[in-house]
Amino acid sequence: MNIRKGKFFKDGKLCPHAEYTMPIWNAMLKADLLVFAAPVYALHTRAQMKALLDHLCCHWMVHRPDKAMFTKRAVILMNSIGASNREAQKDIATSLQWLGISDVRCLGFGLIEGVNWKELSDKRKNKINRKVINLAEKYVSFKPGHMGLKVRVLFNICKMIHKGLLKKEETPSADNQHWIDNGWI
Ligand SMILES: Cc1cc2nc3c(=O)[nH]c(=O)nc-3n(C[C@H](O)[C@H](O)[C@H](O)COP(=O)(O)O)c2cc1C
Repeated sequence: MNIRKGKFFKDGKLCPHAEYTMPIWNAMLKADLLVFAAPVYALHTRAQMKALLDHLCCHWMVHRPDKAMFTKRAVILMNSIGASNREAQKDIATSLQWLGISDVRCLGFGLIEGVNWKELSDKRKNKINRKVINLAEKYVSFKPGHMGLKVRVLFNICKMIHKGLLKKEETPSADNQHWIDNGWI
């Protein structure tokens, strides 16, 4: 078996990059609100963000989800040159959904006038600032998120998959053991 794959299926702590990814994951578990801020590169989220999200997919509902994620709230802030950056927002939103987070808001803005903040007119900077402040005001007081319909459906599909796999396994895989330990199967 491919070593990297083997580690993925056992425990995220065994990953060769765990010293970088585990502190982020542990901080996510403790946080009241998760904020992902990234620019668009070649129509998608930047590779560094994608690399982090790839590492976290061992906690997707198809593998070993953490129940703390079911009540998290998250915000995705996305900047690009052009006005529309929905595809890049989706790169992150899809990952968050599979981590089990239902309450995700996206705010995308196009810089239009330049490639970075310093090149923008005060008018545009103020417009972007206002949008971010308006969004931030929705999160001033703490409110836990709730498992929405989409995540609930995905969770139940994964539950059926894990139940089916358990019948075939002589000893439960780390994924299945995680589902057993959480009392989900
Ligand atoms: C390699 C590269 C690719 C980019 N691709 C896009 C793109 O596809 N669409 C877009 O609207 N902006 C694109 N941009 C513009 C960036 O999203 C924008 O300048 C952003 O503010 C850069 O943020 P940063 O300074 O944090 O890297 C690209 C920039 C770079 C450097």
